Formats: sequence, structure tokens, C-alpha cells
Amino acid sequence: MKILFIGGTGIISTASAELAVARGLDLTILNRGKRAAAPGVRQIVADINDPKAVATALGGTSWDVVVDFISFSPAELEQRIALFKGRVGQFIFISSASVYQKPGAHWLITESTPLANPFWDYSRDKIACEERLTRALREENFPAVIVRPSFTYGNNCVPLTLNSWPKTFTAVDRMRRGKPVIIPGDGLTLWTMTHNSDFAKALIGLLGHQSAIGHAFHITSDEVLTWNQIYSAVAEAAGVPLRAIHISSDFIAACVPEAVGSLTGDKANCAIFDTTKIKRFVPDFVATTRFRDGIKRTINWFDADPRRQEIDEEANVKWDKLIAAYERGLAAARKEFGQA
Ligand SMILES: NC(=O)c1ccc[n+]([C@@H]2O[C@H](COP(=O)([O-])OP(=O)(O)OC[C@H]3O[C@@H](n4cnc5c(N)ncnc54)[C@H](OP(=O)(O)O)[C@@H]3O)[C@@H](O)[C@H]2O)c1
Repeated sequence: MKILFIGGTGIISTASAELAVARGLDLTILNRGKRAAAPGVRQIVADINDPKAVATALGGTSWDVVVDFISFSPAELEQRIALFKGRVGQFIFISSASVYQKPGAHWLITESTPLANPFWDYSRDKIACEERLTRALREENFPAVIVRPSFTYGNNCVPLTLNSWPKTFTAVDRMRRGKPVIIPGDGLTLWTMTHNSDFAKALIGLLGHQSAIGHAFHITSDEVLTWNQIYSAVAEAAGVPLRAIHISSDFIAACVPEAVGSLTGDKANCAIFDTTKIKRFVPDFVATTRFRDGIKRTINWFDADPRRQEIDEEANVKWDKLIAAYERGLAAARKEFGQA
């Protein structure tokens, strides 16, 4: 099989590229070349959103499978459809499990859970992409498959509810400096965390799977943890006791409106997935990395080279301000109730 990944060096796609190579697949990745490609991977350097550069880079090549890791809007997707129509046997679009109904009407998420997220434009755009692909399949026989990852981490990502997205070591650095980290709500919301090496096993199993065309799958582990457990595992891996402060999501959203999408539209909800469907299509798929073990590997990776430990000072300032506001409010409330 001749396979093209658009992406290939990101949090999710790196592990998938490594596994594809380990399984002897003929893989090419296309990206802007900002990060090193996995050994043994053929790389094309181009910006996918620059149609001329991409047309030149790809020429008239046809692919058995294209996996698009980086379409975020219908306009971007439209360009991918135009680029690959008639030249691809299977087109896998990496969507997001945040597309599922928020708040959920049922605790268990299956692929038939309604797609509706009024809180996060990122998710609404992914839904619009999925709808466009469904239409492309129906009307133009475009061989689309939809894959929805939930929170997926690897070496270079510390996955938490309130953390800097580009500089995820920031929360670990806070923990190590004895500063509190914020856990939304009571920290009892149930969540599913997936290691990128586990995600890769299911994705690679779908490559070239003709019966998968037209279907949507989420790919997640089966390990369900509370956010308190997740934060505790991160602190344990960082070698420090957890100092957490619980603040309601409503309070956080009122003070930091930009957190609403990722919080109210995602991580403040329970995320428990029925993984029956992906296992039916990829029978050897089983997620084997427990969060407690995976996150140790992540922290070890950051510790191995201090240059990787980038800190988001702006986020730190915001969190300190939020904690101070919350503590002032709490102190005032205690006083009013005679509990001071
Ligand atoms: N990680 C998660 O928890 C999660 C959860 C749900 C859904 N997803 C979805 O999974 C997909 C991948 O996420 P990720 O976290 O792995 O992303 P990521 O770490 O940001 O990686 C993005 C990849 O795409 C390449 N890229 C970015 N812009 C490009 C451009 N204009 N042209 C060509 N290549 C480009 C990057 O390399 P260069 O920078 O060198 O170009 C890199 O290889 C996204 O669609 C995301 O919505 C992720």
C-alpha cells in the first residue's frame, strides 16, 4: 500500500508513522518540516494550505490511503477533496471526539451519539468537515473514513484539563515549584486518556480496510479515570505531591472565557467510550498503556533535555490570578457564613 500522511510529526501522527514503518508499510509524510521525521519515513516538505506548493510537491501521484491529520475547517477539507479526488483509494479524516453532544444525554459515547457541541467552534468545524465528507461519499463516491481521537498524548504532551496547549510542561513545572494546579469541578469527572502508541495500533489497522469506507470510529483506550486520578499520576511521575485547587468550571469560564470551548465543550464532561466498533474492524486492537505508565515516559522525555521544558509564563500569570480571585471569594463567603 502507498500511504500518505498529511502531518506525520505531530502528537498523534508521530506514533502512527513509527508503527507504519515498523510494519513495513510504504509511507510518505507531508508537512512543513518544522519537526524531525521518524527514522525511515519519506518526507515531503510543503504547506498543505498552499495549493500550488502542494500540487508541485505531489505531482500526479495516486495513493492507496491518505490520512489527513490537519484539516480543521470545511474550506481546508474542500481543498483536500479537490486535491485527492480520483487519486486515492481511502481518505481518512482525523476529526475529534469533542464533536459528540455536549452535555451528553447518555453516559456512554458510541459512534451513534449525536454530534452537537454548542460550546466549542473547533468541534463545530470538525462536525462540518465530517458532514462534507459524508456528502462527498454519497454524491461523489469519495472514499472517506472518519476517525475521532479523544485526548491523545505522547512523549511531548502532558494532558490535563487546564494547561498550556503549546507548552504542556508548564503544569509540571508548577507542581515541582510547589504551586497549586487547578482541577475543574470536584475532579470527579470521568475521562479517557489514550497514549499515541495505542491510537496508532487502531489507525494502522484501518489503513486500506475497504469495509471501513463510509464509517466513523473513535479510537481511545478503555482506561477510565477521574481528573483527580489523572492529576495525581502526573504529580507522581513528576516526583512531587499533588497540590490541587478545585474550582468550578462555571467560575473558570466566567474569569477565563477562552477556556469555555475546551472545558464546557469537552473536558468538564464525562468522556467514556464504547470501543466495540473499532475492535470489530481491527480485531487485534487493544490499548495497553496505562496512564500511570505512559505519563512517566512523557515526564522522562521532558527531563532528558531541559530545552524541551518550555514554560508558558502568560498562562502561569492567568492561573495565579484565577486562584487568587477564587481564594478571595472563598474567604469572603466563609466570613459571611461565620466559618472564617
Ligand atoms: N492530540 C489530541 O489530543 C487530539 C484530540 C482530538 C483530535 N485531535 C486531532 O488530531 C489531529 C492531529 O493532532 P496533533 O495533536 O497530532 O497535531 P500536532 O501535534 O499539531 O501535529 C500537526 C502535524 O501537522 C503538520 N502540519 C501542521 N500544519 C501544517 C501545514 N499547514 N502544512 C503541512 N503540515 C502541517 C505538523 O508538522 P509541521 O509543523 O512541520 O508542518 C505536524 O506534523 C488534529 O486534526 C486534531 O484536531 C487531536
